Amino acid sequence: MTGMGRSVGGPVGAQHSRPSSRSSLPSRTPAMAGVPRLVIYARDLTFSEDDKLGRGGFGVVYRGVFKGRPVAVKVAHPSEELAPHEQFIEVLREVEPMFHLRHPNIVEFLGVCAADEKHGLMIVTELCECGSLDKYLAKNRPLPPDVRDRFVREICEGVQYLHDHGIAHLDLKPGNILLAKYLVIKISDFGMTRNTQRTTSSFAGGGTYNFMSPETMNPEKLVKPSTKSDIWTLGGILSELHGGQRIHKSTCQTHYEMVADRDA
Ligand SMILES: Nc1ncnc2c1ncn2[C@@H]1O[C@H](COP(=O)(O)OP(=O)(O)O)[C@@H](O)[C@H]1O
Ligand SMILES: [Mg+2]
Repeated sequence: MTGMGRSVGGPVGAQHSRPSSRSSLPSRTPAMAGVPRLVIYARDLTFSEDDKLGRGGFGVVYRGVFKGRPVAVKVAHPSEELAPHEQFIEVLREVEPMFHLRHPNIVEFLGVCAADEKHGLMIVTELCECGSLDKYLAKNRPLPPDVRDRFVREICEGVQYLHDHGIAHLDLKPGNILLAKYLVIKISDFGMTRNTQRTTSSFAGGGTYNFMSPETMNPEKLVKPSTKSDIWTLGGILSELHGGQRIHKSTCQTHYEMVADRDA
């Protein structure tokens, strides 16, 4: 591997001294069979900063290999506002909803890995080798009807599965919808997700303007964002799949003002 001068990898215990009785334990004991994996050891993961799959507001995603399997490795952008321990929590918040989810249209979470100080806590997921729906649409619009209809069905099935599990994604958009082999839809990026059953679940706002429902623009003023917010957003995505234009920011602002005035 090139780019970083070296691949990330090597025994995680090399940098931090741990009791030898613990480090000699096998990473998965028989009692853990069936328990979802959380920790990926640095010795099992390699990636190169030359092999970038994409970037978003939160991080950069690289192609990597975990125990021989091609994967995606998400590294958070260095933050000036958050201390390292706070950034760890941000990563774990993103991982939390993915931990128990298993669905053909939800990106598979494989674990988190702390390889070194520079990269912090990294999120490892299945590789979606056909990239994001955003990039795919940019090159392949208009979609043939059979592909378009399958995309619509698979996106709806993924969202339905999340909602059935009490999870509101709250940042659905073509950049967060990925395509695996054979163009299978995989919903990803759970950074804004909230558990709708948790009464303490807070939503600080944020998202992508063109796709935001009015309540996600100002959650203090309007009702709490919920699974209904995803349905609003889904409307915009499905319209785009059918050849519609992306809703302009100013239109979103007008929608917000209309709802805010109505509720005032
Ligand atoms: N599992 C993956 N397989 C392939 N590409 C990915 C994967 N995860 C992310 N990407 C690429 O990286 C981009 C940013 O990833 P994302 O998780 O949305 O980051 P952010 O939280 O910063 O928005 C995506 O739009 C996509 O192009
Ligand atoms: Mg994203």
